[in-house]
Amino acid sequence: MTEDTLIKAAIAAMPKAYAPYSHFLVGAAICDENGNIHTGVNVENAAYPQGSCAEAGAIAAMIMAGGRRIYQIAIAGRGVNLCTPCGGCRQRIREFANPDTPIIIADDSGLRQRFTLDELLPHSFGPDHLDK
Ligand code: THU
Repeated sequence: MTEDTLIKAAIAAMPKAYAPYSHFLVGAAICDENGNIHTGVNVENAAYPQGSCAEAGAIAAMIMAGGRRIYQIAIAGRGVNLCTPCGGCRQRIREFANPDTPIIIADDSGLRQRFTLDELLPHSFGPDHLDK
């Protein structure tokens, strides 16, 4: 699975977003431990806080398909600023990823910037913290 394939999957998902309130379309694509791709989009709601992010949709799709680890994730969104994952989604990704897991930010034109999970969520709390 190349990075380019994953970016293309995130970009291809974007137009499927349901974002009638923000008009901000986001697509996310995860490559899991088996090399399978799982995509998601943001799904907004008239009761605004009930909306969900693209990353949450992609994680749900991965779990449903039997994937358990995020090897790479690409997120595609438009705008001057990078479409980096929100705080809640950084924590959602943390559950299934490693500190060095690549988080790839793209727009319609392709790659914009690469981060690692640890760069976006340093000193994070995860499943290992619950070990007694
Ligand atoms: N959004 C995502 O889906 N992922 C992100 O990483 C950032 C924000 C969505 C939520 C909402 O539907 C819209 O973008 C505007 O915030």
